[in-house]
Amino acid sequence: MTENTILIVGASLAGAKAAEALREQGFDGPLILIGDEAERPYERPPLSKEYLLGKAERETIYVHPQQWYSEHNVDLRRGVAVTGIDAALHQVTLADGSLVGYAKLLLTTGSSPRRLSVPGADSGGVLYLRRVEDSDKIKAAFQAGSKVAVIGAGWIGLETAAAARAAGAEVTVLESAELPLLRVLGTDVAKVFAGLHREHGVDLRCGVQVAEITSSHGLADGVRLADGSHVKADAIIAGIGIAPNTQLGAAAGLQIDNGILVNAQLRSSDPDIYAAGDVANASHPTLGKHIRVEHWANALHQPQAAAGAMLGHDIAYDRVPYFFTDQYDLGMEYSGYAEPDAYDQVVFRGDVARREFIAFWLAGGRVLAGMNVNIWDVNDAIQALVRAGRPVDMSRLADPQVPLEALLER
Ligand SMILES: Cc1cc2nc3c(=O)[nH]c(=O)nc-3n(C[C@H](O)[C@H](O)[C@H](O)COP(=O)(O)OP(=O)(O)OC[C@H]3O[C@@H](n4cnc5c(N)ncnc54)[C@H](O)[C@@H]3O)c2cc1C
Ligand SMILES: NC(=O)c1ccc[n+]([C@@H]2O[C@H](COP(=O)([O-])OP(=O)(O)OC[C@H]3O[C@@H](n4cnc5c(N)ncnc54)[C@H](O)[C@@H]3O)[C@@H](O)[C@H]2O)c1
Repeated sequence: MTENTILIVGASLAGAKAAEALREQGFDGPLILIGDEAERPYERPPLSKEYLLGKAERETIYVHPQQWYSEHNVDLRRGVAVTGIDAALHQVTLADGSLVGYAKLLLTTGSSPRRLSVPGADSGGVLYLRRVEDSDKIKAAFQAGSKVAVIGAGWIGLETAAAARAAGAEVTVLESAELPLLRVLGTDVAKVFAGLHREHGVDLRCGVQVAEITSSHGLADGVRLADGSHVKADAIIAGIGIAPNTQLGAAAGLQIDNGILVNAQLRSSDPDIYAAGDVANASHPTLGKHIRVEHWANALHQPQAAAGAMLGHDIAYDRVPYFFTDQYDLGMEYSGYAEPDAYDQVVFRGDVARREFIAFWLAGGRVLAGMNVNIWDVNDAIQALVRAGRPVDMSRLADPQVPLEALLER
């Protein structure tokens, strides 16, 4: 039974897509998908957007219809955690004490929200957003006129702030850095998001330190800042980043460094254990380094490569990283990879004030990343520019009259 069993641990987007890819690529052996959530695999982006806004029904968030798993002979086991891996014996232990053997194991255990560690952080009413039930709780807390404090102006913080404003709540966002999304976007582009939220009535306070969560009768009622000021709140949402769920892999002796270290085939330091999605710090052939991507498109596509590699195909995952956001009337897509100290220039094309533009991050004249804001159908061209890795003419890059494709011509 275990001789050719493929076991996937972590039943979310990456896990479900891996199961799909294995069947599509012709694997007809035993396939087990184990997850600790009660729900069948679902996607998280709607939880801070259309589902939180009440614009999408719950049924729309799932990766596959319920019957897909039985139709494809995928043994989906929900609501049970894997608690240990015995790599030598090729078996895992489940929380209920049972053992499951494998020939190949794929870890798609994802990530978990970082928790606040200030006094009062354990009070009831301090909410985090990762699972669908978190989104339900947050939705219930967003009432017209209620006071919402959001800690962290990253993706979770800003998207929930936009949803809270849409519900008519009064919103204060508390960010420790000088601007929202500063690490990812840099000063010039981060300012666009600061302006967007302030224009929509958010009290955005940057460069502040949260000192304490205040409460009455065990229920959080506000946030005390290090300068002594107090922000009253009926609901507090913390979005202060995530940590990859590496515990299982670490205990099994896998090499860990900011995630489970894997090569371009998504194979870990154990030849029969692979990792994909948020938890994987993967060698990227084009970028020439290991990167761990905490975004939807990575969890969507990386499992196809992992599946191929597990089936013995010669394959490497080298897609250009991609993510998107929707906040109020701003929609954007970001392609590429520009770490804070990796670029020396940001070039804008279009109208930044109207928030209809493309921003490019460059190093030595080469495009590392590009972000299209309220401009569509340019993503392929931006990705091609990133992949080309050749110096481009700055004035033509900034000129909306010059098609992006023309910049690719030699
Ligand atoms: C609210 C929200 C909105 C987002 N919006 C966007 C967006 O707009 N655009 C974008 O690009 N990205 C977005 N993301 C990020 C994106 O959702 C993640 O990158 C993606 O979910 C990663 O998928 P994954 O399958 O690797 O991991 P996860 O989604 O974290 O899933 C891992 C699964 O494994 C389970 N698990 C962990 N350990 C065990 C164990 N020991 N045993 C059994 N099961 C286990 C977990 O409970 C979980 O179900 C958003 C994330 C959140 C939370
Ligand atoms: N559109 C998207 O791509 C999208 C949307 C939602 C979530 N996500 C993913 O979900 C995960 C979690 O998102 P997130 O927003 O929590 O993480 P994040 O890393 O995007 O942002 C965290 C923010 O919190 C700030 N911060 C950290 N500690 C703080 C503190 N004590 N007080 C105040 N501010 C503090 C950081 O400076 C940063 O701005 C990430 O992996 C993210 O990529 C992505």
